Amino acid sequence: MAKLTLDRILQSQGFGSRKYCRELIEDGEVAVNGEVVDNYRATPDTDKLMLTLFDEQWEYREHVYIALNKPPNFECSRKPSHHPGVLTILPEQFTWRDVQPVGRLDHDTTGLLLMSDDGSFIHAQSSPKRHVPKVYAATTAEPVTEALIAQLKAGVQLHDEPAPLAASRCSQLGEHLLEIVLEQGKYHQVKRMLAAAGNHCSALRRTAIGGLQLNALALEEGEWCYLDAAQMALLVPEQG
Ligand code: URA
Repeated sequence: MAKLTLDRILQSQGFGSRKYCRELIEDGEVAVNGEVVDNYRATPDTDKLMLTLFDEQWEYREHVYIALNKPPNFECSRKPSHHPGVLTILPEQFTWRDVQPVGRLDHDTTGLLLMSDDGSFIHAQSSPKRHVPKVYAATTAEPVTEALIAQLKAGVQLHDEPAPLAASRCSQLGEHLLEIVLEQGKYHQVKRMLAAAGNHCSALRRTAIGGLQLNALALEEGEWCYLDAAQMALLVPEQG
């Protein structure tokens, strides 16, 4: 495969337009593996490539796979209307390289949100056929009862769904706290299921996706990290 020139490499990493990236390079603002390179036609090897711009180091990544501990009051939509978008939490380069949330959490839902600029990953991960379990901790307005858990496991009818939707697992974590695991990702699904079962969800946090646990990532609310290969492997549903 033809090697990328340095200006295109910078552009691919979200540092700005090609023209702007050329200017940065010619102004001596870019180091490649620690050495300033001012020729934008240079074609450094992208394998283990470390770029330095404005005293910050950026490892070259063909795609980025990110986990964010989403705080409340951020929207996942592309055109946020009432609250800032989740992309504003990440460095600006990620917006330039078209990083998007994988699925959506409501503005008031907190917890694990995946983000990426890899369209096939986003598509595969959001596909209903894939059955990736999503684990939520839901705080309920009314106390959690055995009957509520039984109802959520058996399936509840939501008014615009053709068939009842069931939790694949559900258990009590506290008097007003429920762990609910869903394999679908319908609009407001947890909140609507709890409402249909006669309770009310007053707070919602996603704690895991597949085998990837938010706790294991040790991210404070608003913090993010890149996912490594081992963490990515946890997102693939188990066979069988
Ligand atoms: N279910 C909801 O109701 N809201 C979310 O944000 C995620 C799942």
